[in-house]
Amino acid sequence: MNALEIVRRAVGEHLSPGDFAIDATAGRGYDTAMLARITGEKGRVLAFDIQPEAVDSTRALLEREGLCAEVVLASHADMAKYASPDSASVILFNLGYLPGGDHSVYTRAESTIAAVTAGLDILKRGGLMCVTIYSGGANGYAERDALIPFFASLDDKKYQVLSLSFHNWKKDPPLPFFIIKN
Ligand SMILES: C[S@@+](CC[C@H](N)C(=O)[O-])C[C@H]1O[C@@H](n2cnc3c(N)ncnc32)[C@H](O)[C@@H]1O
Repeated sequence: MNALEIVRRAVGEHLSPGDFAIDATAGRGYDTAMLARITGEKGRVLAFDIQPEAVDSTRALLEREGLCAEVVLASHADMAKYASPDSASVILFNLGYLPGGDHSVYTRAESTIAAVTAGLDILKRGGLMCVTIYSGGANGYAERDALIPFFASLDDKKYQVLSLSFHNWKKDPPLPFFIIKN
């Protein structure tokens, strides 16, 4: 089982038709489409990316699949402008750079921490935030090294924070974090 499959299973347990979900890093749109498939016509999916190429890819995938989502060309750090507190059942972050795109554009610790902080306010009680950290490629280790202590600092009365370790990977395993709002 890879990180993506594990995240998708967790999402499947927290998301139902009619719910509201956010994809904080739209990329090629695969996660946005997965969320839209579950939430259905009565639900709402909001997706963010700072690259026009990613927004275009995501919109094209949604159209091909006959799915509906709002795809916004904006930083996820601004998500509070688009969603109200305690409204989202699931928020996903798949960090790093756009596959097949410009590897010099990637998620950065400062805006990711701002976005996770905003997202935790938007998340419903019982809702799930998944943040998968990819490090060691063109993006290096700075984001991972800032996020790990940040997640450890979250109030344990308000949030349960779990991480998944690919323990025998020799180099740069993906690092999924799961945050549940109590
Ligand atoms: C690993 S990709 C996401 C993959 C995507 N979830 C999919 O299913 O294809 C990471 C994406 O984050 C985007 N990104 C980087 N900084 C961002 C920011 N501040 N706000 C929103 N998206 C950002 C990149 O442009 C890139 O497309």
